[in-house]
Amino acid sequence: MIDFKKIFENNEVWVSEKIGKDPEYFTKLSQGQHPEILYIGCSDSRVTAEDLMGVQPGEVFIHRNVANMVISIDLNIMSVLNYAVRHLKVNHVVVCGHYECGGVKASLQSKDLGILNPWLRNIRDVYRLHKNELNAITDESKRFDRLVELNVQEQCINIIKTAAVQEAYKDRGLTVHGWVFDIRTGKLIDLKIDFQKILGEIIEIYKLF
Ligand code: CO
Repeated sequence: MIDFKKIFENNEVWVSEKIGKDPEYFTKLSQGQHPEILYIGCSDSRVTAEDLMGVQPGEVFIHRNVANMVISIDLNIMSVLNYAVRHLKVNHVVVCGHYECGGVKASLQSKDLGILNPWLRNIRDVYRLHKNELNAITDESKRFDRLVELNVQEQCINIIKTAAVQEAYKDRGLTVHGWVFDIRTGKLIDLKIDFQKILGEIIEIYKLF
């Protein structure tokens, strides 16, 4: 059973450690944030954002949802994205997926999951866009891994479709990154997506300026 008392004890230890190193730590922290990165990851409890990147409070603006999706009518992600890009003026947006993602796995199954259906439908659309490549992969687990990667790529493209990002790209060269966390090894993989190429192919359709 979860010990909530322990959580508050842990917090006290953490506070003393921080103050031990810098007595002004929380005073400084309370004065504002200037993160360089917006990180969009999966809500999966095994995929913690700060831990795997080794970053501290104040360094990364974070949004997590089921299967790290960027959906144009999701007010939550769109608010996070607009606030981070237009107000905090982050220079990097990262979408980080992970192998063994339950959300991506669910989208591969013929199962009615109620309210999750419209959310996961967006991953099925990613499959449809890349059906030929995915269907050519005979190994089921390799196909699952590839869908995780392609889902990251498509969510990065969804980011590029927004006015805030197109404007920041033009004004200050904001960069979008697609990563995958390999939960089997702990390694972070940069998918090295060629956004210049992708942008060249789709900009005539999605250009807002
Ligand atoms: Co996941």
